[in-house]
Amino acid sequence: SQELIKRLEQTIENIPDFPIPGIQFKDISPIFLDPKLYEDVITELAAFSKGKIDAVCGIESRGYLFGIAIAVALEVPFILIRKAGKLPPPVASEKYDLEYGSAIIETREGQIKKGQRILIHDDLLATGGTTEAAAKLVEKQGATVSQFSFLIGLKKLEGHEKLKKFNAEIYNILEF
Ligand code: PRP
Ligand code: MG
Repeated sequence: SQELIKRLEQTIENIPDFPIPGIQFKDISPIFLDPKLYEDVITELAAFSKGKIDAVCGIESRGYLFGIAIAVALEVPFILIRKAGKLPPPVASEKYDLEYGSAIIETREGQIKKGQRILIHDDLLATGGTTEAAAKLVEKQGATVSQFSFLIGLKKLEGHEKLKKFNAEIYNILEF
């Protein structure tokens, strides 16, 4: 709702030139100082996914902050997508390109079930590189990406374009 958007805009801090010059960092940590605001964010994100998904996949680490609470609210499993080397074997993994070099994300094998409708959740959609890799990782395991949700979507970057090919619903509460 407009009211929730307004409260979030008043709460999220904009930090210029962090972590590098030219980047405007959105600090979401003040949301967690306000339990009522946090609860309203979860209600909003859970309403988007209600009845449409069988499990939530959250992306390390900020994707866990809201992702687990969405899964609990909807009474569906939560699966951790982690950066490489953190989860014990057997794991499924997906490599993707970064601006410099590459990265790998992983899930425990067998936690995503074939045929499940999956919500991929993260706090922020920027270039979409991380989320695209997460979606490939989910599909590789025989599940369907039904939805993506984010707290924040950055319009200027190409994130939304990259996710089109998955034919999933996309929702972000805030857009900058
Ligand atoms: C940030 C953010 C998203 C990702 C978005 O995570 O939380 O996960 O980058 O960027 P993209 O759309 O360009 O891929 P970060 O890698 O900084 O790690 P963190 O969540 O552990 O803080
Ligand atoms: Mg992240």
